[in-house]
Amino acid sequence: MSTTPAKQRIGLFGFGVVGQGLYDVLHRTPGLQAEVSRICVKDRFKDRPLPASSFTFHKEDILTDPHINVVVELIDDAEAAFDIVSTALRNGKSVVTANKRLVATRLQELLDIQRETGSSLLYEASTCGSIPIIRNLEEYYDNDMLSRVEGIVNGTTNYILTALHEPSSGGYASALAQAQKLGFAESDPTLDVEAFDAAFKTTIIAAHAFGVVVSPLQIVRRGITSVTPFDISIAQQQLRTIKLLSRVQLHGSGLSLLALPALTQNTSPLAGVRNEVNAVRLTAAFSDAQLLVGKGAGGGPTASAVLSDIAALRYGYRYEYKKLGQASPPVVNHDVEVAIYVRGTNDQITSIPFSIVEVDHRSSSGRYVIGHVQLDALHTSPAFLDPETFIAILPED
Ligand code: HSE
Repeated sequence: MSTTPAKQRIGLFGFGVVGQGLYDVLHRTPGLQAEVSRICVKDRFKDRPLPASSFTFHKEDILTDPHINVVVELIDDAEAAFDIVSTALRNGKSVVTANKRLVATRLQELLDIQRETGSSLLYEASTCGSIPIIRNLEEYYDNDMLSRVEGIVNGTTNYILTALHEPSSGGYASALAQAQKLGFAESDPTLDVEAFDAAFKTTIIAAHAFGVVVSPLQIVRRGITSVTPFDISIAQQQLRTIKLLSRVQLHGSGLSLLALPALTQNTSPLAGVRNEVNAVRLTAAFSDAQLLVGKGAGGGPTASAVLSDIAALRYGYRYEYKKLGQASPPVVNHDVEVAIYVRGTNDQITSIPFSIVEVDHRSSSGRYVIGHVQLDALHTSPAFLDPETFIAILPED
């Protein structure tokens, strides 16, 4: 491994919740020998807790500064972030980003640029905040044959769902507002509640766990906006808890990828994961099952993952993406059976081609069915596109 200069001089893009969190964390970690040289922000008129001389509004002030050797990208806009990250890599700087949309949607290009330039791009903070999932998949699970990686990867939806299961819940809108206030939600919370954010993270996990580069559009994705107190009460009657589940699973040579609501059994370790906490359960041939749990959103936890990447750059760390070079990578295949709960109108429920119906409940409060269906058939059914219908998978364990 190469050596890095004694001092890391950081050019920081973005000074929101995570950027400020990183600034604080760096000042409380003096042993790291890293300092923020310049911070590039967009809004000239915002009040900030640092002197104006710390800031610039021109990306070139960082990207072309030869003294800056590490660029940390923490902005919202994935297009602008790609420009910053790719230029920084080409200019010989190491880059750390927390931007899951950027990594998930531009992964192949980012891989190519890393290969061409030899510069390192690290993004531990992009997936599950403080949980060191990417580095574990890269290093610890380098040889053990993973069969499934699943978990709770979005803090905002977990925060909302946790609140909705409480008897004194103030309801969906108030839980979302609280998650926004606490700095967990994206600036456009649609990304959280419609599971786009979870799909981005699922894409990143798939690359590092199974060596496949997929588009987030290939993830079978559905959010939590249609969940009602009725759905919560049915889940509770079934001794289950509603979570937003991300899952990447091998089935022979096929790989299914989903980000969907799930009625997890109350005995599952995922059911007890509350608020903004995330959890990733890994199932592999030799290690069997492991669970990583930690805060998945918020300034401090996300900054801790960025800090860990900055520290790793000091000893020349880079992702090797060894699994991407395998001879026969798995192929995306959603022709697998899943058990689901669906609540909706007769028309919507009838549009789902169930192979088995276990429960078909009709009452004045609504109709719901618990049954089995092929995941790809569910994905293309009219019910799946209907915003009022609530669909959740029923995991076995
Ligand atoms: N909005 C994201 C979440 C932030 O709630 O998980 C962390 O990626």
